[in-house]
This record gives sequence, structure tokens and C-alpha cells, in this order.
Amino acid sequence: MYSDEQAAALYDLLNPWGPSDDFYLGLAMDANAVLDVGCGTGALLHRARRAGHAGRLCGVDPDRAMLGLARRRADIEWVVGTAASMAFDREFDLATMTGHAFQVLVGDDELRASLTAIRRALADGGRFAFETRNPLARAWASWNPENAVDVVDPSGRPVGISYEVQAVVGDVVTLTETTSDPDGAVLRVDRARLRFLDADTLAGFLADAGFEIEARYGGWLREPLVPASPEIITVARARP
Ligand SMILES: C[S@@+](CC[C@H](N)C(=O)[O-])C[C@H]1O[C@@H](n2cnc3c(N)ncnc32)[C@H](O)[C@@H]1O
Repeated sequence: MYSDEQAAALYDLLNPWGPSDDFYLGLAMDANAVLDVGCGTGALLHRARRAGHAGRLCGVDPDRAMLGLARRRADIEWVVGTAASMAFDREFDLATMTGHAFQVLVGDDELRASLTAIRRALADGGRFAFETRNPLARAWASWNPENAVDVVDPSGRPVGISYEVQAVVGDVVTLTETTSDPDGAVLRVDRARLRFLDADTLAGFLADAGFEIEARYGGWLREPLVPASPEIITVARARP
């Protein structure tokens, strides 16, 4: 057995601070009020506060174990909930979805409801910044047990983590993440579905929800988006 709390603690180890976080931190430090949707363990908002952000910082996530770690900082608002459940009304000038959190919005209805709630949370002219993996780069092709990694978790326990794609249907990839003991005994299996929207379809959903695209990049140093780009990084503006 490997608990939700242990898995959440392992998340930060497997996803250390990187160039994507620097990208979002720069946007956050320029905004007065920041909403991080799917904030996970809260790394972005923690870092913003530590870097001197003096305005409103609010993280939303449905995973209580992840939010439990985020709550280590009490000078930030933490809300349990999904993107679609948010009821903020023109309160933020930046919303983010980092760490590919956007891709968990799989069904059209959930995607539309989530984008509508994010638009409603933003003041007119506010920005929504997020990334989604470029389907043309087929990241899921490397998600297989041969690429398993061995790590030592924060409690000092060695574990192995492996990914396996179960299905690719249209633009939705279903995968498992397996956590094992060093002898191979399975401790937990998490199943996830991720949507790989192409750039044009994504632009359509954004326009329908009241956003216009301000900038789009293919990499974290603001490289142009080209067919081989690993990411589709979008900064969208809330239309009045
Ligand atoms: C890959 S993690 C990214 C976490 C964090 N943004 C980061 O960069 O480390 C995806 C997060 O999305 C959250 N999530 C899942 N479904 C969601 C939903 N419908 N709305 C908002 N967040 C959701 C998960 O609980 C998880 O914390």
C-alpha cells in the first residue's frame, strides 16, 4: 500500500522546479491577484509568496492530499474543488494551469464548464496562461515500463515508478502510473486520462469561452510554436 499522502509527497520529488515554473512565476509576479487552477502541492504560489508577491494568491485543486501539502503555507488561500466548480467572479488578473493540469479536462462538457469558470474568475483583460502537450510530438510514446525510474521518497523509502499507456482513442490517452517496491511488488496503480488537444481545436474552445489568444509558444523560452514543438503554451486574454 502507498497512501494518497505518500503519493502527493512523491509528486514534488518527481516534478522538481524547472523552466516551466520560471515562465509562470514571471507572469505571477507581474499580476496583482493570481488563481492557480489544479495547483497540486502549491509549488508555484509558494514560490511567488517567497519571492515577495504581496497580493492575493489562491490555489484550487480537487485532490485533498495534494492540497494538504500546499497548506504548509497559511498566507495563501487554498480551495478544494475542480476548475468547473469555481464560483469566483472577476476577482483575478491572472489564472494559470501548470504541470499539464489542463490535460485532465477530458470531456467537452467539462472543458467548456472549466473554461467558463476560469473566464468568470478573471477581470476583463485578465490573462489565462497554461500549457498542453502538443499531440504532434506524441509524448505518450515514451510512457512505457522500460522507462521506469527508481527514486527514494521523502520518508527514505526506495520505490519504482512506471507509466504504461492503456489506450489512445482520438485525442484521449489513458495511462497507468504504477508505484512498486524495489522487489517489484505493486504498491499502488493510478489511472489517468489526458486529452491532447491540437492547437486549432484548443483555439476554438478558448474563443467560445470568451478568450482571445495573446501569445502562443512551443517552448519555455518563448520559442515559436511549430509542428515539432513539445508544448502548446498559451497566454489568453479574457475578452470584455
Ligand atoms: C499534473 S498535476 C499538476 C499540479 C501542479 N499544477 C503542478 O504544476 O505541479 C494535475 C493536477 O490537476 C488536478 N486536477 C484534477 N482534476 C482537476 C479538475 N477537474 N480541475 C482542476 N484541477 C484538477 C489534480 O488533482 C492535480 O493536482
